[in-house]
Amino acid sequence: MGGMSELSALLHEHRRFSPAPAFAAKAHVSDPAIYAQAAADPEAFWAQFATELDWMAPWTQVLDWQPPHARWFVDGKINVSANCLDRHVTGGRRNKAAFIWEGEPGDRRTLTYFDLHRQTCQFANVLKGLGVNKGDRVALYMPLIPELAIAMLACARIGAVHSVVFGGFSAESLRDRINDAQATVLVTADGGYRRGGIVPLKQMADEALADTPSIAHVVVVRRGVADIPVHMSEGRDRWYHELMDGASAQCAPEPMDSEDMLYILYTSGTTGKPKGIVHTTGGYLLGAYATTKWVFDMKDDDVYWCTADIGWVTGHSYVVYGPLANGATVVMYEGAPDWPAKDRFWEIIERYGVTIFYTAPTAIRAFMRWGTEWPARRDLSSLRLLGSVGEPINPEAWMWYHEHIGHERCPVVDTWWQTETGSILIAPLPGITHTKPGSATQTFPGISARILTQQGDAVPVGGGLLAITHPWPSMLRGIYGDPERFVQQYWSKWDRGTYFTGDGAKLDDEGYYWLLGRVDDVLNVAGHRIGTMEVESALVDHPKVAESAVVGRPHQIKGQALCAFVTIKEGVARSEGLADELKAHVAQKIGAIARPDDIIFAADLPKTRSGKIMRRLLRDIAEGKALGDTTTLADPSVVARLRDQYQDEA
Ligand code: PRX
Repeated sequence: MGGMSELSALLHEHRRFSPAPAFAAKAHVSDPAIYAQAAADPEAFWAQFATELDWMAPWTQVLDWQPPHARWFVDGKINVSANCLDRHVTGGRRNKAAFIWEGEPGDRRTLTYFDLHRQTCQFANVLKGLGVNKGDRVALYMPLIPELAIAMLACARIGAVHSVVFGGFSAESLRDRINDAQATVLVTADGGYRRGGIVPLKQMADEALADTPSIAHVVVVRRGVADIPVHMSEGRDRWYHELMDGASAQCAPEPMDSEDMLYILYTSGTTGKPKGIVHTTGGYLLGAYATTKWVFDMKDDDVYWCTADIGWVTGHSYVVYGPLANGATVVMYEGAPDWPAKDRFWEIIERYGVTIFYTAPTAIRAFMRWGTEWPARRDLSSLRLLGSVGEPINPEAWMWYHEHIGHERCPVVDTWWQTETGSILIAPLPGITHTKPGSATQTFPGISARILTQQGDAVPVGGGLLAITHPWPSMLRGIYGDPERFVQQYWSKWDRGTYFTGDGAKLDDEGYYWLLGRVDDVLNVAGHRIGTMEVESALVDHPKVAESAVVGRPHQIKGQALCAFVTIKEGVARSEGLADELKAHVAQKIGAIARPDDIIFAADLPKTRSGKIMRRLLRDIAEGKALGDTTTLADPSVVARLRDQYQDEA
């Protein structure tokens, strides 16, 4: 978020951009009547869309809704990998590029649909050979290489449930996720590249594997990272290429029930422990397929690039499942945008003739800071559509993206959604919607949202909490192993049928949504979702820390920065060194994405008389704001001391 002054400025945003007639004329959807049609009968809308997928057995009921439990396409049988691969191989796309991959050091590979199909079938057989059965969980801890998508598709092919753990997470985070899901197989790699450095994934996995009793087998992909020692544990660890070597390329896709689990993906919430978000098969695939087709206006001759890592939900839905279900050509790039130079992304767009580009506001703000000379030196004329995801995009960044990347020619689609929603829920349809810089605009056809007050009253124009008021096909079906938390977290704010997003938003007088950021204890740092409680737990785990409270403060590029207030145990000296030690400790416990930007040592944390830490006050201090009413504090001087100190240090 860009801070409060920018938020109020949003209400005065009058710039708007209409779809170019030439774009609209060719777009998949250009008739606004689709919105009213879908709203009149969302189930019929989705059912119609679902006929574009290949079903092995038809559904008998579109939706069975027992709030908050939904079953979509009841009794339908379908296989996700068959929809992403087989139908393209037999349907004229056999030798079309599915993935065009580039490693950070510059190595390149292209996999056709036929290649991807063959390797997926082979790896599916490898998994079967390792004893993986339908319903078993397989953990994937890999760099951004095609084998990660192959492993996901292979799981989907045989009905195993994948749990991808982002390669930037620590050994401990990996261990906790493996144990929560009780995964029996881990697929990893020797390592990966990031900003010129090496991420030693296998070494980190080994650390995790010291305490993951459910894991029987580990498969290691040789990414070919130089100079990295890989220890293979006898009887447990096998090389991917050796297993693939003898594996048959024949593997019939398992007929999966619409509601069989496809994957678990862990994400941060308001407690210290990440939640395993559960997605199922039929509805999820439909959501990813339909939104990819319409929001990105995906055509057969597009070259599509979503810069997200597959370790996040954006990569699941918009690097793998959505685009492949559409038979698209997908560019995949392993590394950082500024390696070896700050035009790496633009170089990739030029090299492969990328037509659709999807990235995060954090990246756009970094590009803005680096200057227009970097994109200007590359040919970006192949681009025809730009997308944004992961955080609110401030109007300045939107305009810069529009002008300097899209050359005022490409529609910009700001897409709002979450790990839980599975696919995009709020975004323009580029052949229909007039966009406004900073607004995600309107709900996708068939989706119903409202802005509600805490009490549940609808806000027709103005700010409040974003709620989704009708079930949708790609909605989460639960939190793995924690059915109560599922109900309590998402379906208890108002009534059982209304989904609480955790986001604040505004509705303007034309019914456009303006997302304002999280209203709970979840931060969005550089587009990464981080729970304040997770960081707090990591801090108090350090032997010198007594208490901690973590809040977000606005940050020019990352949207939010992590600011940790810490009290240390008696007798421990404060020092610069200690702050660095604590930051490193958090990075080691969770992963580098959670490393605090600021550590503020405090004599005490401000608490209410009932002992609750006053986070709002800490946020105000972190933002350098005036303090307001502190009379409910047990010891008001705590805050004054903190604030003075913060201003000295900042
Ligand atoms: O706060 C919203 C923000 O990201 C959160 C979801 O994070 P995650 O589950 O990691 O998924 C990120 C990718 C979909 C949301 O609750 N968010 C996501 N997209 C936008 C956004 N905020 C504003 N505008 C967006 N386009």
